[in-house]
Amino acid sequence: MCGIYGYIGNTTINNFVDKLSLLEYRGYDSCGIAYNYNNHIILIRTKGNTNNLKRIINNNTIQIGIGHTRWATHGKISPINAHPHTSRNNRFYCVHNGVIENYQELKDKYNIQTISESDSAIIPVILDFLINKYSIIDSLKILIKEFVGTYAIAIMDRYNPETLYFIKNKSPLLISKSDNNISISSDQISFNDGEKIIVLNDLDYGSISKKEIIINNYLSDNERVTFIKNESQLCKRNEAYYMLDEIYFEKKLPSIISEKYKRIHLDEYKMTITTSKELVFIGSGSSYYAASILAYEYEKKLNKRCFSLIASEVKNFNISNNSMFITLSQSGETMDLCDAIDYLKSKNQRIISICNIVHSTIGFKSDCVYPLSVGREISVASTKAFMAMLYVGRGLLDNSYFNNSIYISHSIKNALLLEPKIIEISKRISSSNFIFYVGSGIDYLYSLEASLKLREISYLHSLSIQTGELKHGSLALVDFNTYCIGILSSLDSKARLESSLSEVSSRGGKTIIISNVYNKADLFYEGDSLGLIVIIQLIAFHTARLLNRTIDQPRNLAKSVTVK
Ligand code: AGP
Repeated sequence: MCGIYGYIGNTTINNFVDKLSLLEYRGYDSCGIAYNYNNHIILIRTKGNTNNLKRIINNNTIQIGIGHTRWATHGKISPINAHPHTSRNNRFYCVHNGVIENYQELKDKYNIQTISESDSAIIPVILDFLINKYSIIDSLKILIKEFVGTYAIAIMDRYNPETLYFIKNKSPLLISKSDNNISISSDQISFNDGEKIIVLNDLDYGSISKKEIIINNYLSDNERVTFIKNESQLCKRNEAYYMLDEIYFEKKLPSIISEKYKRIHLDEYKMTITTSKELVFIGSGSSYYAASILAYEYEKKLNKRCFSLIASEVKNFNISNNSMFITLSQSGETMDLCDAIDYLKSKNQRIISICNIVHSTIGFKSDCVYPLSVGREISVASTKAFMAMLYVGRGLLDNSYFNNSIYISHSIKNALLLEPKIIEISKRISSSNFIFYVGSGIDYLYSLEASLKLREISYLHSLSIQTGELKHGSLALVDFNTYCIGILSSLDSKARLESSLSEVSSRGGKTIIISNVYNKADLFYEGDSLGLIVIIQLIAFHTARLLNRTIDQPRNLAKSVTVK
């Protein structure tokens, strides 16, 4: 994971750190910067996110710098393990995203001792060693030969204060140039709108300076994708939490997406889903649950086999030749999904993606991308992107669904009106030791998402289980401090849900029903089932808020999971 950022131009340290903070969604357990000031390299590293960095920097003007936000893989969270790393003679400073898998072997080979436990700490030390014999560019090429693993690395050299160097494999790395600035980053988010962006290929290495951009490739010289940055706006932070803004944005989502899809040709998609023997939906985390919900709905409508796979498990399944693969991702950078796509492509399969960031690794790897168009999501817990996946997926299945935007939006607003009641329920469950979410059929799939969202940001123990399955073992967990929340979007499942919940209450557990069809439910609204998503998101949000959690950046997690 981790975010890396490098800049050449003229800016203040504060502005530089502001740009770096945009990469925090890739990790925020520690961070650091190195910049050249009056021919001295200043290195600052700290635990925590860039707010901590801001407390210790001054606001001098700088012309060159590199920065990093970390999500720890090797070595505990500490300033020593934070990036940039440097070697003993402090010539090279490096920031790295990815994992150097053979770092132990390289430590032995080059006889390296580092104080830092991070795999990345070997990079400047090996460079120091190589530079005695080779030019910097040749040394970078040797690093590519030496490294096994994934990496996007930006390097600052004390003796070349106008140039940054880079190498890249599997982890994304992009360069952007405007008249006065040149920057390098793991994500276009840190570039300005209107800038031309170059997407580096795997095994690229080279340098950037105001004068020139030099890009070589270790193996071939395939052309690089370029595009002009033009990203839709982020949710404006009206509330103290991005997550709450992103949930409230959902009422606007149906009309925004429907408008967008009026201008997109959908015939090819229709033909693909009609002619393929089976459809396989793939994603990770919440995107996997969106994949599962869509697979359920597609199978009902198309009357053909549709199923979902967890991205990291794709290689464990046999690939049948007449399948169509549809991947879902908010970030477009999830490594498990990138790997799954590479694997499927190596078996000559075509990939359709439903993705929020079209200019992303997954976007570039796919044969065809359908956008979510809801603007970047900042809070680690996926809300508006999850709902957009369902909305877009349903609209692609039946284009007339896009004409329902007013009704869907109305349903979402009805669900939002329940917020005061949701706060009361959150107060009750926030002191619980275990929360079950149960549901049957598609409601079970909603409940999986509800449970993930709750534990992700509140850190409470929560499990999701099919309504009828509770009595086959998990009921043993129920005591007077357990809550069981049933989701009900079809009256056909009402009797089963009520009997399961009564088995819970007979054992002292507390029960709650959320429904859009049963008007005696504890939380009832009228309208489409997408409103249920709003309710489970608000329950998670308010429970976490009552428990004083760092909602937008929950512990141990990152927004974009770019490691295996
Ligand atoms: C959701 O709340 C999570 N943060 C996580 O499960 C996420 O959905 C998953 O990592 C997949 O991310 P993606 O959609 O960016 O591929």
